[in-house]
Amino acid sequence: MTSQLLLCGGAVVLPGEIKQQDILIEDARILAAGAHLAGDAPQATHVDINGLTVFPGLIDVHVHLREPGGEHKEDLYTGTCAALAGGVTTVLAMPNTDPPITHRESLQDVLASAAARTVCDYGFYLGGTLDNAEEAAAIPDAIGLKLYIGSSTGSLLVDQLPAQIAHFAAYPRDRIIAVHAEDEAAVQYYAGRGQRRPPMCATLATAHVIALAEHFERRLHVCHVSTAYELALIRNARARGLDVTCEVTPHHLFLSMADEQRLGALGQVNPPLRSPEAVDALWAQLDVVDMIATDHAPHTLDEKNSASPPSGMPGMETMLPLLLDAAYHGRLSLPDIARLTSTRPAEVFGLANKGRIAPGHHADLTLVNLNHQWTIQNEGLFTRCGWTPFAGLSVHGKVEQVYLRGKQVFDGDQILAQAGDGCLVLQG
Ligand code: NCD
Ligand code: ZN
Ligand code: ZN
Ligand code: ZN
Repeated sequence: MTSQLLLCGGAVVLPGEIKQQDILIEDARILAAGAHLAGDAPQATHVDINGLTVFPGLIDVHVHLREPGGEHKEDLYTGTCAALAGGVTTVLAMPNTDPPITHRESLQDVLASAAARTVCDYGFYLGGTLDNAEEAAAIPDAIGLKLYIGSSTGSLLVDQLPAQIAHFAAYPRDRIIAVHAEDEAAVQYYAGRGQRRPPMCATLATAHVIALAEHFERRLHVCHVSTAYELALIRNARARGLDVTCEVTPHHLFLSMADEQRLGALGQVNPPLRSPEAVDALWAQLDVVDMIATDHAPHTLDEKNSASPPSGMPGMETMLPLLLDAAYHGRLSLPDIARLTSTRPAEVFGLANKGRIAPGHHADLTLVNLNHQWTIQNEGLFTRCGWTPFAGLSVHGKVEQVYLRGKQVFDGDQILAQAGDGCLVLQG
């Protein structure tokens, strides 16, 4: 038995335009999108979504779900609930868990847990180490390889050139090498002088990995780009024909060093928040940016208030409201948001059925009310860490309904999906 659902009268965000359209869904997929489809679908269950704007479900290519080893701050269930509440229907999870995901066995273990406990679709990166280049290259069910060129949260670190070369030489040409690009020697040098990871750390490492990607002709994805210098390097590399992509985080777009006083350790993150001028420069270079990814990195308030707070902040529940508010105030368009949060991530990571509201694609849909003004609060978040650096901020734009492969999974208030409803995505 097939089942049909007709979402009637929404404003649908398409590449470069917004159209008043109905969306006809059959089982997990979009069958048709167009004006007045009711006549074509007498069998379908009608849902009136007048007044709502429909985005392709968001794809967040950089999240930390903390399982295994960090379940006191997030796990596969709470993290993917936070995703759905933020309109994110697919997450790509990082391997800096405890223990890290660096071998076939640890990947299989987390994939088994994810199959049982996630509520949105997911993929996992495999973490590079100083000695796993050959094994990493031979594991097909990871979404890509993650290399920490500089240290961050967790134990993963590939700061030795021979190991970096081994990974770039061995990893398959058609697959993604995602890099935390801060130069470890520079990080240590500046730490010794009381400075926390100034822009130079990121610039050096980004130039370094572009050189490796160019020499070995590999696909490079630069994580959490935080400066216009890095974007200039990436623009330049692309002009030479390199396949280099990048992401920026909401916190590097919506927070700056000016917020550090107020936020204290809650604002500590790698790479750090930058100057207000650097934030303006990032916005001005947004045309170089492939995607916005949260780097959702939950830590508990106790950890953040400790003598040596860990770096990172949660982000999945606030990314889309922040972007909708920016659109409300004219800083970018709704099609820009869809491209940066869904269409381009799907293209870059080869998620063939995702990222577009078009026939044949998965019916992953995020429905928002652009005019709903509300105040972001710590109370009611789904992330287990229970706080956001954006608490107290008033925004225009709220996630009202989310569909995952044709099933409603969030109603603006409650998660409707069951643990285990999430599916593995692979580069295809
Ligand atoms: C991340 C974390 O906590 O896992 N922290 C961070 O400051 N961004 C790790 C990372 O993405 O570098
Ligand atoms: Zn990182
Ligand atoms: Zn991260
Ligand atoms: Zn506003």
